[in-house]
Amino acid sequence: MKQIIDIISNEVKTAFESLGYDQKYGEVSLSNRPDLCQYQCNGALAAAKEYRKAPFMIADEVVAKLADSKTFKEITMVRPGFININLSDEFVASFVNEMMGSDKFGLEAPEKVKKIVIDYGGPNVAKPLHVGHLRSAVIGESIKRINRFLGHDVTGDIHLGDWGLQMGLIIMELKKRKPELCYFDDNYTGEYPEEAPFTISELEEIYPTANAYAKENPEFREAAKEATNQLQKGKPAYRAIWKHIIGVSVSDLKKNYENLNVEFDLWKGESDANEYIPEVVEYLKENGYAYESEGALVVDVKEETDTKEIPPCMILKSDGSAIYATTDIATIVEREKLFQPDEIKYVVDKRQELHFDQVFRCCKKAKIFDENKKLTFLGFGTMNGKDGKPFKTRDGGVMRLEYLISSINDAVYEKIMSNREMPEEEAREIAKTVGLAALKYGDLSNQASKDYIFDIDRFTSFEGNTGPYILYTIVRIKSILNKAKEQGITDVESIMPAANASELALMLELVKFNGVIFSAGEENAPHRICQYIYDLANAFNRFYHENKILAEEDKARQASWIKLICGTKDVLETCIDLLGFGAPEKM
Ligand code: ARG
Repeated sequence: MKQIIDIISNEVKTAFESLGYDQKYGEVSLSNRPDLCQYQCNGALAAAKEYRKAPFMIADEVVAKLADSKTFKEITMVRPGFININLSDEFVASFVNEMMGSDKFGLEAPEKVKKIVIDYGGPNVAKPLHVGHLRSAVIGESIKRINRFLGHDVTGDIHLGDWGLQMGLIIMELKKRKPELCYFDDNYTGEYPEEAPFTISELEEIYPTANAYAKENPEFREAAKEATNQLQKGKPAYRAIWKHIIGVSVSDLKKNYENLNVEFDLWKGESDANEYIPEVVEYLKENGYAYESEGALVVDVKEETDTKEIPPCMILKSDGSAIYATTDIATIVEREKLFQPDEIKYVVDKRQELHFDQVFRCCKKAKIFDENKKLTFLGFGTMNGKDGKPFKTRDGGVMRLEYLISSINDAVYEKIMSNREMPEEEAREIAKTVGLAALKYGDLSNQASKDYIFDIDRFTSFEGNTGPYILYTIVRIKSILNKAKEQGITDVESIMPAANASELALMLELVKFNGVIFSAGEENAPHRICQYIYDLANAFNRFYHENKILAEEDKARQASWIKLICGTKDVLETCIDLLGFGAPEKM
């Protein structure tokens, strides 16, 4: 189904063209004075210059041409040459009806289905998830869902940080604590145990301890580096420990992400790129892309048009070891081999922008990734506390994600309990659903690249531009629909043209759906969906307050309203699913 704005634009463009003007002047946009009209066309002002005619004369001609159109209720010229448009109630209702009867509410399938890999989440194994990983998971999940809904072939990959020095640190710390384990006996020839020699809580304690210890003891740090090196070279005992670390961490991570309603298709990690590193290095050297500079191997990636200095991309350090960039380049090689993606999107902290810029340039320059395909860096800003500084615990430590989630849930629980009586267990369950909406909406309603302030009171409020307000609206509609059912009110095949201003306003919000989802996808912008559902929820609530739906005496009108609000609920639920949360039955 076409977007409503295109349908209107096309009609106005045809009018311009039939009058001998370039059709481009017929472009219509949403009105920036909704108090005056719904849509507007400013093309006559621009056309005036080209055709050396007063803008109002051109606008008058166009308006006269369209006077009998069934699409418009009013189309008027306003001096100096604006065209103000109000749609006919019948046209709006027929659009809503068509939308409600269409797959995905009229969102058209893409011209070309793209294969997209989304790299998001990016937690580091053996380290607890903290708020820094939250944004990547929340934004990445939504972008994945939006692109999939648009009809693309999308694969979400968590890209675990499972290959760095933290592995060597854990191995050496384990050796310090339990030297008797078979992994540390060089004469051991048997199979290594199935069972991990630590639990997740031990693991989470081992890493920070080892990290702190390494800071004080350079020889320990060196030993950890050496252990990392041996692990990467494939030493069986360390491989076995590494597998335990991954196993224990991954099952814990899965639980955490499940709580966040975040689901990855692939659980690959930096380690998977390891096998591609030697060939990448060889390829870059052989084809003259990489050269030695102060002992290190680098690729120049600066371009003539650069306005700032872009340093060369380092491939190998002077001691011959691979670094973060090497892993990311090798991962692109792997993804190319496995999926041939049209695009890879990375949802990562914006402070890593330079790193990705270097990696992308290197891959395109060296023809590792087709120049015409897309490597997209979606850098997100920092989540700050109310003091405007990066969000921390009260004592300045890193805030664990689990803790953050439970404090949101507690705040919502208090709100629910203060409003009404409900069995504790039920309230807890609802608080979990509403809490997740508070958290995700609080994040996604901001443009991703901006920093934002994490404000638990605001995010959990049932009023204003918040997740709970959206859910509250959905729950309100569900409750009306339930009551209508009890009273034997059924809906109808099609919605009637609006009976009043608030009903029309609700329809005018609904019709924007396919356009909003399309641009949210194009722009990687979940916040557009948030804006849309906030406007839609407001329009619904106004409609609800101005009309007594369940007491309406005109039965045909009432049935039409039930159909309209049912559609509103379906659209809202579809949207929140794209944002990665759901609504409870009551709250
Ligand atoms: N593990 C990394 C970190 O915590 C994020 C990984 C992002 N993805 C990537 N392909 N480099 O900073």
